[in-house]
Amino acid sequence: MKVLAILLAALVLVTSAASRQGTTPNIKEVFIGRCWDYQEIRYNTILPIEPKNCSHLWDLFFKAFSYHAPCDVRQANYDQYLQEAKQSLPANKAMFWSGIYNLAHQFSDNGINYVTLEDTLIGYLANSLTWCGQENYPGMNFSACPTWTDCPLEASESFWSGASTTFAASAIGPVVLMVDGSNPNKPAYRRDSFFGKYELSGLNVSKVPSVHVIVTHALGAAKLEVCGNGTLVTLQNDVEARGMTYTCDDNPDSVMYLLCAEKPDCRECKLAKALASGQLSYNSSVITPDYIMG
Ligand SMILES: *[C@@H]1O[C@H](CO)[C@@H](O)[C@H](O)[C@H]1NC(C)=O
Ligand SMILES: *[C@@H]1O[C@H](CO)[C@@H](O)[C@H](O)[C@H]1NC(C)=O
Ligand SMILES: *[C@@H]1O[C@H](CO)[C@@H](O)[C@H](O)[C@H]1NC(C)=O
Ligand SMILES: *[C@@H]1O[C@H](CO)[C@@H](O)[C@H](O)[C@H]1NC(C)=O
Ligand SMILES: *[C@@H]1O[C@H](CO)[C@@H](O)[C@H](O)[C@H]1NC(C)=O
Repeated sequence: MKVLAILLAALVLVTSAASRQGTTPNIKEVFIGRCWDYQEIRYNTILPIEPKNCSHLWDLFFKAFSYHAPCDVRQANYDQYLQEAKQSLPANKAMFWSGIYNLAHQFSDNGINYVTLEDTLIGYLANSLTWCGQENYPGMNFSACPTWTDCPLEASESFWSGASTTFAASAIGPVVLMVDGSNPNKPAYRRDSFFGKYELSGLNVSKVPSVHVIVTHALGAAKLEVCGNGTLVTLQNDVEARGMTYTCDDNPDSVMYLLCAEKPDCRECKLAKALASGQLSYNSSVITPDYIMG
């Protein structure tokens, strides 16, 4: 019995690793429901809402990939949809992120502090969905979709590259970019990231004067790259080459408070707390200013 259970468990693991997720079930209903939710409730007091016809948006989105082989979809297929779904953004609020998702979205707070791609209608409708076409009815493959690496680059990036470009082109005023300075597997800035490939070049420099970079470092992790070193030098050069001003901050207070809210027992947070409550007196030769929050 025990042996059988182990065999079964092994079998389940093997099959689930081999099969890839198909198109999200009920994708049409999810898409149209999200669209109404976006316009009527979720963002209607936060962002300027431009009324859209949700069924029409679904039709355009569906048309872009349905009844095509899954890897036969170009960015241009989504042009009509992106054109119809795009919206104007409030000034001084656009925020980009690269290599860091959760903290960036806690920081932006669903459009309240900043507006990310995922807070725009285009990003909101597609976020976390899986979809791919098939040539026969119903035009979408619900059993399996290729992963990004299975398709030629153009097809796997076709939607999100167009969405990123559209978002960047709508930004007005200074923008913020959050990157991760403590990931050993990924440099903070990569020219082949979505930001490097589509967003930086998509910004309209006659509307966007500057890019403010926030480099975050996970609590307790090594600070592999900080403002002014590593790939952040390349980023500064690329931003300035486009004619925009570059500024950079390492873990500003606003980010430290979010990190410490999640892990108050971390050394950096305890030191800051002890300091704030007067249990510790500040001595710059003992505690480096890195650990000081307030
Ligand atoms: C919304 O779009 C659908 C599908 O394209 C169309 O049938 C319907 O007439 C449109 N509704 C309005 C109010 O324009
Ligand atoms: C769905 O995709 C899988 C994996 O690519 C493929 O084997 C299957 O034939 C597709 N289904 C249809 C109906 O095209
Ligand atoms: C950039 O913005 C300016 C001012 O709003 C506008 O005239 C121009 O067409 C925009 N450029 C592009 C490429 O969209
Ligand atoms: C960047 O600075 C950090 C902190 O000072 C240091 O640990 C790291 O080695 C530097 N990295 C590079 C690539 O210079
Ligand atoms: C700070 O710490 C150093 C090293 O422990 C010590 O020599 C120095 O007197 C301290 N300064 C103050 C102001 O406490």
